[in-house]
Amino acid sequence: MNRRTFLTPSALSGLAGTAGLISGCSSGSDSGRRGAPPLDLSAPLRIPPLLHPERDSDGVRRYELTMLAGNSELLPGTSTATWGFNGAFLGPTLRASRGEQVAMTVRNTLPEASTVHWHGMRLPAAMDGGPHQMVAPGAAWTPTWTIDQPAATTWYHPHPHGATAQHVYRGLAGLFILDDGHDPGLPTAYGVDDVPLILQDKKFTADGALNGDPLKDTFGILGDRILVNGTYNPRFDVTTERVRLRVLNGSNARLYHLVFADRRRFHVVATDGGLLTAPVETDALALSPGERAEIVVSFAPGDNVVLRTLDNGVDLAKGDFDLIRFVADGRPAPSPPLPAAFAAFTPIVPPADAKVRRFTLNGHDAVNGRPMDMSRIDEVVPAGAVEIWEIENNVYSHNFHIHEVAFQLLDSGGKPASGYAGGHKDTVFVPGKSTVRLAVRFGTFTDPSAAYMYHCHILRHEDSGMMGQFVIVEPGTEDTAPRTLPPAGTGTSHQHGNTER
Ligand code: C2O
Ligand code: CU
Ligand code: CU
Repeated sequence: MNRRTFLTPSALSGLAGTAGLISGCSSGSDSGRRGAPPLDLSAPLRIPPLLHPERDSDGVRRYELTMLAGNSELLPGTSTATWGFNGAFLGPTLRASRGEQVAMTVRNTLPEASTVHWHGMRLPAAMDGGPHQMVAPGAAWTPTWTIDQPAATTWYHPHPHGATAQHVYRGLAGLFILDDGHDPGLPTAYGVDDVPLILQDKKFTADGALNGDPLKDTFGILGDRILVNGTYNPRFDVTTERVRLRVLNGSNARLYHLVFADRRRFHVVATDGGLLTAPVETDALALSPGERAEIVVSFAPGDNVVLRTLDNGVDLAKGDFDLIRFVADGRPAPSPPLPAAFAAFTPIVPPADAKVRRFTLNGHDAVNGRPMDMSRIDEVVPAGAVEIWEIENNVYSHNFHIHEVAFQLLDSGGKPASGYAGGHKDTVFVPGKSTVRLAVRFGTFTDPSAAYMYHCHILRHEDSGMMGQFVIVEPGTEDTAPRTLPPAGTGTSHQHGNTER
């Protein structure tokens, strides 16, 4: 396999402390703002290494993830203090299949407590890695669960309440690809014709330090340099007729409105929760923070085309940026034809008497007027329910992510979802001054004492309290379930997911 080297974990530096990692952003005229030189898009795209350990004799796949601090050459000739998993920036791409049991050992060698949340994963709340499952410096966390959901591109990132924006901005994020044993007839050679694209915008100081305060201003970070898999100014050499791109918006706040410079059309084949009913042809793809899409793009010999993001007038999509160049030199190897349809899709249909829950977004520090409270359970949901969640946004752009579930967008601003917007999702854009309605299918792992989160995935908003908690309980016990959780750190011990030193 043609695997390019990823960021070498550079010597662990002593620069791990909070101070100095993110320098102040007081000087608005730093070089990052206006000094971004024109891109030639020539740096080989870094491909995060795959982490796909053999199954142990007991059938379990065991993964080791270590959160660490290091230095990365993000901009050529500079050194940036960053955080990563098993390396200095970002993390490996984990891979597992439906039916497999996975066991994680997440070690924290950072100077701060953090967590690792499996965004898009259907799993018990105690394994979810939300703000209740803190991993202290020097400690390890060992969640385990069985993969039981359709094939999808999910991801993992820290979720410590109040510090998620900082931890993700410094570089803690990675993909977790799920397979399900059905061959959908799509490209599958990782890094060759099945290629991750993790999009993250940053601001840098003149000497290469990460700049900007992810907890300031309305949206935190809207950077002026965009990294793809941690590569600035990247190029990808196409060697096949078709390439499947697994695109993750791993940015703190930016909305991407992706087009090819030649406006070529491509097919969206999957969204957050997995495959669509059929490929959807389009020339533009919008992704808000936390959202994923898989697209299939055709290339002809001699193609040289740039993927860009365009300012479409939305407050979170400021500026036009070239992201990555695709170069098809030589004769591309044949690819399977694009399938006409995918069999796996099951529509999420709320029953006629579905429960409707309403959430209003005003400002950016609360949901329904209540700022996040770690000890308060906001919603109690019966296992396996299909409900309608209605999110009314009275201000500027937000989005909405629900842990553990799959949902389908019913309508946005009164318009029924169409095209790829109707796929299975866990995160959805909520345009300013509009209402979205979701058909939400909840899982069946019950635990009245461990909560899942729902929140705006603009990390500055999540950190400032635009988040709430729900539990999933046995149907019929909703009214008797407790509405509070013990304060963090008092250690309700669940049977799994121990923290050990
Ligand atoms: Cu990707 Cu609760 O987060
Ligand atoms: Cu999540
Ligand atoms: Cu928001």
